[in-house]
Amino acid sequence: IDTDVAIVGAGPAGLMLSHLLDRRGLTSVALDIRTRQQIETTHRAGILEDGPARMLVEQGVSDRILTDGHEHAGVELRFNGEGHRIDFSESVGASVWLYPQTDVFIDLADARRRDAGDVRFGVTDVEVFDIETDRPRVQFTDGDGIDWEIRPRIVVGSDGSRSASRFLIPEARRKQFFHEYPYAWFGILCEAPMSAPELIYANSPHGFALISQRTDSVQRMYFQCDPNEDAASWSDDRIWSQLQSCVAGADGFSLQEGPIIERTVLKFRSFVQEPMRHGRLVLAGDAAHTVPPTGAKGLNLALNDVRVLADVIERTFAKNDYDVLDEYEPMALRRVWRSQNFSYWMSQMMHRTPGDEFASKRQHGELNTITGTAQGRAYFANAYTGWAADPTV
Ligand code: DHB
Repeated sequence: IDTDVAIVGAGPAGLMLSHLLDRRGLTSVALDIRTRQQIETTHRAGILEDGPARMLVEQGVSDRILTDGHEHAGVELRFNGEGHRIDFSESVGASVWLYPQTDVFIDLADARRRDAGDVRFGVTDVEVFDIETDRPRVQFTDGDGIDWEIRPRIVVGSDGSRSASRFLIPEARRKQFFHEYPYAWFGILCEAPMSAPELIYANSPHGFALISQRTDSVQRMYFQCDPNEDAASWSDDRIWSQLQSCVAGADGFSLQEGPIIERTVLKFRSFVQEPMRHGRLVLAGDAAHTVPPTGAKGLNLALNDVRVLADVIERTFAKNDYDVLDEYEPMALRRVWRSQNFSYWMSQMMHRTPGDEFASKRQHGELNTITGTAQGRAYFANAYTGWAADPTV
C-alpha cells in the first residue's frame, strides 16, 4: 500500500491525525492491534479543554459534543469538606467540556468511515522498518490473516502509553524522564443520577476523591488508593462509604449512590521521551508522554500534538524537506511540559500522605492561595482550560 503517512495506533491521536491529514489532501493508513469495540469500551478521562473541543467541531469531525457534551464553566475544589468553586468564565473567559474520551474516539472513527479513511482495527504483527532511510515500511497482518506492507513517506507512532514505536528510536539517542507517585486512583462507573452540576476534586482526611459524570444516569468517580490495590476485593458498600467520607462536610453534601458497573485501578506516572522524531518516525500522544490523570491533560495533549504535527507534515511535503519535521518537537513539548507540571502540581496539592500533618496543612495553605485570590483562581482556570489565550502553547 502506498500512502503519505502510516499511523501506528488508531486511538484518538492517530485517528485525529488521519482526519487532519485528509483535510489537507494527504493520505494515510491507520492501524491498531485492538478492535474498535475494545477501544470504544476502555473508559478514560472525560474532560476536553476549550481548544480540542473546538477542533472536533471546526475541523468537521462531529458536532455531537455540542448536543451530547456538557460545557462546564467552573469546578469545585473541596478541602476537608468545604467547597471552593473556581469560575473559569469569570477568571479567564474560557470553559471545558465534559465529553468522554470514548465519545471522542467514536466520533473520530465514524468520521474516518464517513470520509472513506483507511483505518484497520484488530491487526497483528505490526512491524516498522527502515525509518532511517527515505523508504520506511510498515508490515502487518489483517484480521483475515493476510499480510500487508505499507510504503509511507512518514511513520507516526501514536500507539499509546505502552508504545512499541517509541523503542524504534535508538537507545543511544533516547532520553526518558520519569516521575513515580505513591498513590493511584480507584475508578468506578455507577448507575446513579448526577450528584453535582460540575466536577468536584476533594482533598479530605480520608484521601482524594474526584466526582465526575458521564450521562444523566451514569456517573464516573475516583478515590485515592494504594497502587497495588485489588479493585475486585472492594464491595459496593465499602466503595460508597469511602467516597462519601471523602466529600462529607458541614454543608451536608452527599453523593447519589447506585450500582457500580465498572471498577479499575489507574496507575499514576509522569513520563516524557525525547526526541519525538528520529528519521522518518515521529511520536505523538501517550507514546511520547504520559501524565497522571489529575487535571485530565492526557487526551488534550495528544490532540494538541497531532494538531501541530498535521501542519508540520503538510509543510514537510510541500517543501519536500524532511528537516521541517524537526519543527514539531519544540512546538509540542512546550505544552507537554506545561501540562506535566500542572498534572504533577495538582496531584501533589490534592492527594493525602497518611500521617504527614505538615503536608496537609501546607496543602490547605496552597488551596487558600489558589481559591482565595483572583490571581490564584486565574492561574488554575487558565491551566485547567488549556491556556486558550496563550498562542505560544
Ligand atoms: C475525569 C478524569 C480526570 O482525570 C479528571 O481530572 C477529570 C475528569 C473523568 O473521567 O471524568
